[in-house]
Amino acid sequence: EKGGYEHFMLKEIYEQPRSILDSMRGRLVAESSHLMMSGVREYENKLANADRIIIVACGTSWHAGLVAEYLIEDLARIPVEVEYASEFRYRNPIITEKDIVIAISQSGETADTLAAIELAKSKGATIFGICNVVGSSIARATDAGAYTHAGPEIGVASTKAFTAQVTVLTLIAMILGSKRGTLETTKLHQLMAELESIPAKVEKALELNDQIVKISELFKDATNFLYLGRGYNFPVALEGALKLKEISYIHAEGYPAAEMKHGPIALIDEQMPVVVIATKDSSYEKIVSNVQEVKARKGKVIAIVTEGDKTIPSMADYVIEIPETSEHLMPLLSVIPLQLLSYHIAVMRGCNVDQPRNLAKSVTVE
Ligand code: M6R
Repeated sequence: EKGGYEHFMLKEIYEQPRSILDSMRGRLVAESSHLMMSGVREYENKLANADRIIIVACGTSWHAGLVAEYLIEDLARIPVEVEYASEFRYRNPIITEKDIVIAISQSGETADTLAAIELAKSKGATIFGICNVVGSSIARATDAGAYTHAGPEIGVASTKAFTAQVTVLTLIAMILGSKRGTLETTKLHQLMAELESIPAKVEKALELNDQIVKISELFKDATNFLYLGRGYNFPVALEGALKLKEISYIHAEGYPAAEMKHGPIALIDEQMPVVVIATKDSSYEKIVSNVQEVKARKGKVIAIVTEGDKTIPSMADYVIEIPETSEHLMPLLSVIPLQLLSYHIAVMRGCNVDQPRNLAKSVTVE
């Protein structure tokens, strides 16, 4: 059932061109510039008129929520707050009937996320769910929602569910942006065409596998890793670090690159691998400076860059080139090499990739 792959995680990483496509299929018709989402339609006006949106989730789903914050604020100009479900539910949050809560969960069974939904519901908020497992507790507890069509995810480390969540959230941001008039039609069409080309670009990113195996060999015995990104790639840095720690048991931290000088820079020496997600986007120039700061302290830079980039490759120790896309969609591509890196390092360290110690696929305890 692993389809010839050694582990479910690897199979699921490789399924992403299809799972992303399945998550947008029928919802995105680029030629006719149509966005259709039955789960959204009924609540479209309510969503579009919301004063703010609160996203609740845990773990990787929380990272997808962070990407959604950037997308919805940028494209639809609605304020978004992204909350760890566990913190939100216990801190007496301010919730009213005017609020829209989006809960994101692969399993649909995460106890804290479910409890956060119940709390928000009791205050009269409208709850929207993004779940992968059909008929799950969270899917049933929400007023409306959209499923991610990633298919069953068996590996404890979430991979294809993350990219499916980001795909669905991108569609929602686009729908809200066009409804509110904050996303111009030409820009909407460009983004739609770009989103349609993502599965083929993910396919290309997966071809980096052999190169990532080589890099993994060099760093498999590291005891620490730092992951840096800015803008849309900041949540990707968090996600890359989480993937590495959960399956390889190497300590890793994700940071917004600019925060480095407020503390983590003290950790950098010639032993420290620093994965920098530095694709061509609006924060590119800034991240070039961050790479310089790391190199000045002799850190080992593994850079994820846009194909054809010349500047960062002249500074970094190892370079992984991914296809170009709009910065709004970049997390769908930039996360791929990080998933592969964590996978190969974990395999080389002899770890149980699909069932890492101390972890369960769905966290049904609080
Ligand atoms: O099923 P959920 O999306 O609600 O799960 C949330 C987290 O438990 C989950 O993403 C966890 O962080 C993964 N093991 C990450 O790979």
